[in-house]
Amino acid sequence: MPCPPKSDDLVFFVNGRKVIERNVDPEVTLLSFLRKNLRLTGTKYACGRGGCGACTVMVSKRDPLSAKIRHFSITACLVPICSLYGAAVTTVEGVGSINTRLHPVQERIAKSHGTQCGFCTPGMVMSMYTLLRNHPQPSEEQLLEALGGNLCRCTGYRPILASGRTFCVRMAEKPEKQTLIFRGERVTWISPGTLKDLLELKAKHPEAPLISGNTSLGPAMKSQGHFYPILLSPARISELSMVSKTSDGLTIGAGCSLAQVKDILAERVSELPEEKTQTYRALLKHLRSLAGQQIRNMASLGGHIISRHCYSDLNPILAVGNATLNLISEEGTRQIPLNEHFLAGLASVDLKPEEILESVYIPHSQKWEFVSAFRQAQCQQNALADVNAGMRVVLKEGTDTIKDLSIAYGGVGAATVSAQKSCQQLVGRPWNELMLEEACRLLLEEVSLPGWAPGGKVEFKRTLVVSFFFKFYLEVLQELKKLVKFMPDSHHYPEISDQFLSALEDFPITGSQGVQRYQRVDSHQSLQDPVGRPIMHLSGLKHATGEAIFCDDIPMVDRELFMVLVTSTRAHAKIISVDLSQALDLPGVIDVITAEDIPGTNGTEDDKLMAVDEVLCVGHIICAVVAETELQAKSATEKIKITYEDLEPVIITINDAIKHNSFLCPEKKLEQGNVEEAFEKVDQIVEGEVHVGGQEHFYMETQRVLVIPKTEDKELDIYVSTQDPAHVQKTVSSTLNIPINRITCHVKRVGGGFGGKVGRPAVFGAIAAVGAIKTGHPIRLVLDRKDDMLITGGRHPLFGKYKVGFMNNGRIKALDIECFVNGGCMLDDSELVTEFLILKLENAYKIRNLRFRGRACMTNLPSNTAFRGFGFPQGTLITESCITAVAAKCGLLPEKIREKNMYKTVDKTIYKQAFSPETLIRCWNECLDKSSFHSRRMQVEEFNKKNYWKKKGMAIIPMKFSVGFAATSYHQAAALVHIYTDGSVLVTHGGNELGQGIHTKMLQVASRELNIPMSSLHICETSTATVPNTIATAASIGSDVNGRAVQNACQILLKRLEPIIKKNPEGTWEDWIEAAFEQRISLSATGYFRGYKAFMDWEKGEGDPFPYYVYGAACSEVEVDCLTGAHKKIRTDIVMDACCSLNPAIDIGQVEGSFIQGMGLYTTEELKYSPEGVLYSRGPDEYKIPTIADVPEEFNVSLLPSSQTPPTIYSSKGLGESGMFLGSSVFFAITDAVAAARRERDTVEDFTVRSPATPEWVRMACADRFTEMIPRDDPKTFRPWSIPIA
Ligand SMILES: Cc1cc2nc3c(=O)[nH]c(=O)nc-3n(C[C@H](O)[C@H](O)[C@H](O)COP(=O)(O)OP(=O)(O)OC[C@H]3O[C@@H](n4cnc5c(N)ncnc54)[C@H](O)[C@@H]3O)c2cc1C
Ligand code: FES
Ligand code: FES
Repeated sequence: MPCPPKSDDLVFFVNGRKVIERNVDPEVTLLSFLRKNLRLTGTKYACGRGGCGACTVMVSKRDPLSAKIRHFSITACLVPICSLYGAAVTTVEGVGSINTRLHPVQERIAKSHGTQCGFCTPGMVMSMYTLLRNHPQPSEEQLLEALGGNLCRCTGYRPILASGRTFCVRMAEKPEKQTLIFRGERVTWISPGTLKDLLELKAKHPEAPLISGNTSLGPAMKSQGHFYPILLSPARISELSMVSKTSDGLTIGAGCSLAQVKDILAERVSELPEEKTQTYRALLKHLRSLAGQQIRNMASLGGHIISRHCYSDLNPILAVGNATLNLISEEGTRQIPLNEHFLAGLASVDLKPEEILESVYIPHSQKWEFVSAFRQAQCQQNALADVNAGMRVVLKEGTDTIKDLSIAYGGVGAATVSAQKSCQQLVGRPWNELMLEEACRLLLEEVSLPGWAPGGKVEFKRTLVVSFFFKFYLEVLQELKKLVKFMPDSHHYPEISDQFLSALEDFPITGSQGVQRYQRVDSHQSLQDPVGRPIMHLSGLKHATGEAIFCDDIPMVDRELFMVLVTSTRAHAKIISVDLSQALDLPGVIDVITAEDIPGTNGTEDDKLMAVDEVLCVGHIICAVVAETELQAKSATEKIKITYEDLEPVIITINDAIKHNSFLCPEKKLEQGNVEEAFEKVDQIVEGEVHVGGQEHFYMETQRVLVIPKTEDKELDIYVSTQDPAHVQKTVSSTLNIPINRITCHVKRVGGGFGGKVGRPAVFGAIAAVGAIKTGHPIRLVLDRKDDMLITGGRHPLFGKYKVGFMNNGRIKALDIECFVNGGCMLDDSELVTEFLILKLENAYKIRNLRFRGRACMTNLPSNTAFRGFGFPQGTLITESCITAVAAKCGLLPEKIREKNMYKTVDKTIYKQAFSPETLIRCWNECLDKSSFHSRRMQVEEFNKKNYWKKKGMAIIPMKFSVGFAATSYHQAAALVHIYTDGSVLVTHGGNELGQGIHTKMLQVASRELNIPMSSLHICETSTATVPNTIATAASIGSDVNGRAVQNACQILLKRLEPIIKKNPEGTWEDWIEAAFEQRISLSATGYFRGYKAFMDWEKGEGDPFPYYVYGAACSEVEVDCLTGAHKKIRTDIVMDACCSLNPAIDIGQVEGSFIQGMGLYTTEELKYSPEGVLYSRGPDEYKIPTIADVPEEFNVSLLPSSQTPPTIYSSKGLGESGMFLGSSVFFAITDAVAAARRERDTVEDFTVRSPATPEWVRMACADRFTEMIPRDDPKTFRPWSIPIA
């Protein structure tokens, strides 16, 4: 085969333009090429692992067999650029632009308020755009499928789905046959044009992998350091895409993508009788939930099978379905069975190094043969299965006797596991209850998992092994029932009790519907006045076209270098030595920055920027490599040799910290009444524990900063993604030992913050600034997802103990709560979080005798920090759990206990702040009413009586949320408003645009005050040079305090213009401005808001810490699958007190987005730590934030107009955080369903409240005959894979 000595040209098309790459590097991904080489920054980096969809683009390729063009979405971060030869790529920029023409997808997502921070928006647009290219009028199901691989952390998805519902290039050249070779520095990519050439190449380079979709190879190369100098691409080989239908089966080419396999199977199912398609239908079931659409478009059938991942969804089904692999090499062809030996990787039955998989043969099923597939994952969509299974049985015709049985499980070992022995022993047995019992016993014996098994969840997995078989048992009975309907004299099969029928149904993936209600503006309000109107986010259209610039979209500046951080691999150790020599020798590496390079102060004594002698957690920053490129910097980090001496103690859990008396700050305590005395007088007392796990911010834009040193006067320009630029500025100043006035921080917009970008960006800004000063070069630091998750900390995990005393009628007389949060290794915000937690713990309840105590534990984990709600969502879960416990003891419904104990009249909180609960009660009553709570409650009970394996649950939760900081100095803000001579106005203020629409709201305020249209106003960025000494945009008061400052500046300007306007009342705005300029009137003004007085005296336990409260209530209904632990969210109704909303569309977006984030906290988001303190969950594959399929099927939000007038801008209220806690209504609905299951099964003892209520927790809490039969390990006999830290 001719092999050209030099690299071939890579030719492909981007947005209709031909791209010719002369010296292409096979290691370069499409994402990096688009962003760096083509400067198409609309396509975003958020995870780099194919798991979030932020980098979605459309690829169009000619199908070699049909010769038709196929359009499909892919995640550009996993696509090697060389795989695109001859393809056409469409990015968000190619779809439409605000400067030319918007595509309807872009327009509608923005106008439906489907963008907040906008970081996910280009990916969403591209998924929808691709769908529309293929299906101009897609179905609801297709829409959900298309968006299943796209994550959004802000919106709660509802408006995105709504925009998609409103719809319900030039092309690649004909491929040539010659081999293409792309030679990079380290890797050569060879793409043969014919099968013969491919086989020749495989024989010559047997060790070279075939790179198909790269969804398995790519992540392994990135995160596990796998390296292959030669990659063989089979993309252009048409034989690998063939499909052949025969009378006994179907052969599918190994090169077909999983999306194509789905279509092929669906077609075959529609053509054949049902009995022949059992295996195909089982495969189809999993193909709907396997990964997201983009991955299914990229991943090939061959790559999937050959990867033999233990979690593979298809291999267990293919194995039980007797699939055969057709292999080919230069030597010829041969067939091997896809069986347990192949899946276990036994060399004797594996592919030879020179062989490739050409196609897969899947036989038809027969009459009396039944095949089923099962899977349970943390979320329904886009999540790897914890356990999956393929099961097949053949019964002797007309009888219940097992002729053949095969069962294979995924997720329970290092490979797919076949339960061959059990199956053999069951052959000949009748399909009945006795067989079921025996099968469960055999399966648990054969499919054994040690207590320490990687991935953890051991008892859950054991339970699923038998629960799945039970489902299969019922499914087969059900099928038999259908079969014998037509055979009157047939065998009699066991009946399935009606109560058990619900075990058969899986929860479907459904879209969300709902109504949003808010108050319209007064009919007398001027049409031009935008306040109170649902104005679209100012950047909405730019988000949708990718033209909105985020920090890392700023083009590379002259002489720029890239920085990568090096962090500790030990939880608590002395640093013995740091050897940088090998790293410094690498090409492109300029320097390694350590604490010694810091000219000023290295943070504070307790919170150092970079570790000096000792590391306090895995992820502690030790030094930072500066190199010419990101790749060079990353390679250099691996060459830095750090030797440690482990230190004792290593404290990971809250329990450890209590044992070692390891705390970050003194105890915070509030007390009222006489708790001890009250306990003496009550009818009953309950004590309990509550455990709430932590939460990762998972803002879509990871932490990033660009520091540009100037040549004069030690000035620095810092572009940073932060909620607090003044803090970055101050920290850089003290680190570099230069005055604050030399440093300017700029924030254009932030791709989500949620509290995670309040404190931490200063650390990254300061370290990058040290690098910039030392090297004299601009420095760019962009954390990759796994480092961001490892280093930055998140929400504090909590452990709480309660003792509650109450009367038999449910009146609570005394409540004593002691809680501990896991603060990690440094103080950060832990003391404040503890204070807020204690202050807010009473929630909506008036309990006369109260004692709340809280402490922040110091552990050897990365420091936890601010997170939306700031302690409230964790702490208040204890209070609400007490209510549930009281209800259970009194035999009353929880909502009755809530109502009975709620504040009713003007009163004082535990810290003696006066307030009126009128709006709280209105929200509660309206929520009861709007959700038809009482009638639905009865329906839920009826349902539960009729169904044993599925249970419904309902909960309604009230909320009193205090807004603002408990310190006066934080309640201030400034703004700067310039009017230019053409009449246009530039507004600057101290708030940062995080997606919460603060800039939109500020222009609404300025528009009303100056009485000019919003189109005459502009906000450019937040900068420390225009508005100094700002406070963090946090605590829900950003729009409020900055709005007052903008209002003040506008009023000052208007006052100056008053005489001119009076003189010429008929004049236009432009006339007045021109006249003012002529008359030497300053057209620039600073506005200032000297905000609320807030204080808290912890000695006395009294204060006035918060300017006002936001009230709300949420009601949720769920259905739980007791056999798998999965749940479905049927409906949520939220009533939120927004008073006079500045912008109801934005406020509803905040309520929905925070509710969904809260729902994630309480149901799916689970951080996993090793006993040594290593965080395992460092990406979207291991950490599951809600997806579009997790939104309640019916989701209604009402903003309640309020009669109260808070001391805020136009009596509006800050709604940024409060909705988070309302997500707990889903948690309590789940526990309500679990309690119903336990009551029915007579499980008497109470369960410990643990959040998140994951499928694992739910399944194990729904104790039954299957949980009882699993083996249990003595925890003292093994070291678990992961440990709970709360
Ligand atoms: C974000 C994400 C989510 C995922 N979710 C799921 C999920 O929910 N369920 C699930 O089961 N899987 C999931 N996966 C895994 C996915 O199914 C596999 O990565 C994929 O099927 C591998 O196919 P590929 O074409 O990308 O293989 P590649 O990465 O290209 O190759 C993988 C291996 O297969 C070999 N190979 C490829 N083709 C051939 C051939 N024709 N002959 C011989 N060898 C070949 C290669 O040499 C290589 O060793 C997920 C992956 C990602 C990235
Ligand atoms: S999927 Fe590519 S960045 Fe997340
Ligand atoms: S708008 Fe979707 S991540 Fe922010």
